[in-house]
Amino acid sequence: MTAGEITGNTRVYVHIAHPSSHVRTPQTFNAAFRERGIDAVAVSIDVAPEDLHALMAGIRGWRNLGGIGVTIPHKQAIAHECDEVVGLARQIKAVNAIRREPDGRLIGTNTDGSGFIQGLRREGRDPTGLRALLVGTGGGGRSIAWALADAGVAELAIANRTRARAEELAAEIASVYPGVPVHAADPDPAGFGLVVNATPLGMHEGDPQPLPVERLEPGTIVAEIIMSPPRTPLLAAAESRGCVAHPGLPMLTSQVDMVLDFLRLA
Ligand SMILES: NC(=O)c1ccc[n+]([C@@H]2O[C@H](COP(=O)([O-])OP(=O)(O)OC[C@H]3O[C@@H](n4cnc5c(N)ncnc54)[C@H](OP(=O)(O)O)[C@@H]3O)[C@@H](O)[C@H]2O)c1
Repeated sequence: MTAGEITGNTRVYVHIAHPSSHVRTPQTFNAAFRERGIDAVAVSIDVAPEDLHALMAGIRGWRNLGGIGVTIPHKQAIAHECDEVVGLARQIKAVNAIRREPDGRLIGTNTDGSGFIQGLRREGRDPTGLRALLVGTGGGGRSIAWALADAGVAELAIANRTRARAEELAAEIASVYPGVPVHAADPDPAGFGLVVNATPLGMHEGDPQPLPVERLEPGTIVAEIIMSPPRTPLLAAAESRGCVAHPGLPMLTSQVDMVLDFLRLA
């Protein structure tokens, strides 16, 4: 499952999770290393929150470390373990990729939101200038909200089950991007050019729709971040109403390229 034989030169990409048994990142990255002929191996490590600080202190001395990937529940806490946080990760206040510099410094970034934008653009769906509705302000949703503002949407409406979280996020974004009208909203998709579902609704059979699908208008880009199932009930409803359905997988595949670039492994 590696790019080739593991030798003393092979760099190690560690993906930190808790628990780790469900993650697909080692398979995804080892396949990418193989395809690109990169002499690196990806492994998942299960680290509990109380052990994160000690791990990060020790990791600074790991000279053939190829980089660190981060997922639930560590993305926010690990930002405080980095020596520098760059790009949108500073606003999002969460990190999902870390590069170790030759002097041991750890530089963190976040590719979740920018991966979503790149995934859209790769399919020829540019969010710039569109009125956008985002439903859900969890880890994925927050990152996408910042990235949509950064991409220059014409308006950003944020809906969330717990409305106070949408209001807080809208106020934070408005203070950094005063040129983007951003506000908390109901999840009504009528009149939007881009509608994004960043809730888990659609992962399990019998889930309610995350928004009133009868209000979807033809031509609207309806994007999921759920990867499994690949065609959620929302995407099915969107297609049947003449919308453009954008699945969750491109967000992940775009991030692989961005992470390899950031880690200077590419
Ligand atoms: N494609 C990718 O690369 C990618 C990346 C990240 C995540 N994801 C996927 O995105 C989904 C969300 O992940 P996450 O990490 O952002 O989750 P999360 O942090 O747990 O956030 C969940 C969000 O959905 C809302 N929500 C949860 N249950 C709901 C319900 N029954 N009705 C209405 N709203 C509900 C929550 O609202 P409250 O604030 O009210 O709790 C919150 O805003 C998951 O399916 C995950 O696998 C995909």
